[in-house]
Amino acid sequence: MSTCYLNGTYQPLAEARVSPMDRGFLFGDGAYEVIPVYSRRPFRLAEHLARLERTLEALRLPNPYRLDEWAGIVHEIVARNTWSDQSIYLQVTRGADTRRNHAFPIGVQPTVFLMSEALVTPPADQLANGVAAVSAADFRWLRCDLKTTALLANCLLRQMAIDHGCAETVLFRDGFLTEGSASNIFIVRDGVLLAPPKSHLMLPGITYDVVLELAAKHGVAHEVRDILKDEVRTADEVWMTSSTKEVLAITSLDDRLIGDGRPGPVGRQMLAWYQDFKKTVMRGG
Ligand code: PDD
Repeated sequence: MSTCYLNGTYQPLAEARVSPMDRGFLFGDGAYEVIPVYSRRPFRLAEHLARLERTLEALRLPNPYRLDEWAGIVHEIVARNTWSDQSIYLQVTRGADTRRNHAFPIGVQPTVFLMSEALVTPPADQLANGVAAVSAADFRWLRCDLKTTALLANCLLRQMAIDHGCAETVLFRDGFLTEGSASNIFIVRDGVLLAPPKSHLMLPGITYDVVLELAAKHGVAHEVRDILKDEVRTADEVWMTSSTKEVLAITSLDDRLIGDGRPGPVGRQMLAWYQDFKKTVMRGG
C-alpha cells in the first residue's frame, strides 16, 4: 500500500479523498510534475520544482509552498514508500469552490497531492529493439510549454499509438516536429543530433536538457533547430526522452523503418551516458 500526501497529511493512497468540486476534477485546472527517484535520491529535483513554479505562475496559481518545503515533502514521500526507485507524481490544483464557475474562486485553498509509484523504465526488449510510433497532427493548445493536468489531447494522442500497437505518437504542427504525446523527440541525421527548440509548442523536458548537456559534454555534434516532418521520416535515428522512458529508440514510424530499424549508435551511447550520469546522482554527486 503506497503512502500519499494530500493537503498536509500523509495517508494511505487508497484512503485519500478530494471533493468532486475540485477544479482539477471539473476543469483540469492544475499543474503537475513527474520526478524520477533513483536509489531514493530525486533526480534533478530543483529543475522539476523550478518548472512547477513556472507553470503555476503562468496559471496564476500562487505556489502554496517554498522550494525547501516542496523538497521536504518529496523526500518524506520517498522515505515513506517501499521502492528504492520511484516515480513521484505531484500536482497542485486551484482547489474546490462551492459552485462551478470558470472564473477563479476567491479565498480557496489549492489542493496539493503527491503520490509515489515504483519507477518503471523501459524493459530490456524495448531497449534492445526500440519501439514503434505513429505520427499525428499536434492539435493541442498553444501553451504546451506548461505542465498542466489538462491532458485530454495528450491522452487521445497517446491512445492513437496504443490502437496501432505502438508506444508513442510523434506530433507535428504545420509540418514541424513538436514532441511526443508524453515525451520529447530527438533525431540523428548524418551523425548530428537534432532537437526542436523550446517554445510554447512543447514541454521543456528535464530529460531533454540532460541529453543536450551530455551531448555538449561528450562533444557530440548537435543542433537545436526546427525539424521538418520529412527529416524525421528519413532520419538515421529517432528517440523519445522523458523522466520515465529515459532515452528510448523509436525504430519505426507509421510502419516505416527508421534507419535500419535497429536502435542506432548515437542513441545507444547517449543511453549509456545517461545511466552513468544517474549513478553520479545516486552517489550524491
Ligand atoms: N511526461 N513532453 C510531454 C508532453 C510530456 O508529458 C513529458 C513528460 C515530456 C518529457 O519531460 P521530462 O523529461 O521532464 O519528463 C515531454 C511525464 C513523464 C508524464 O506526463 O508522465
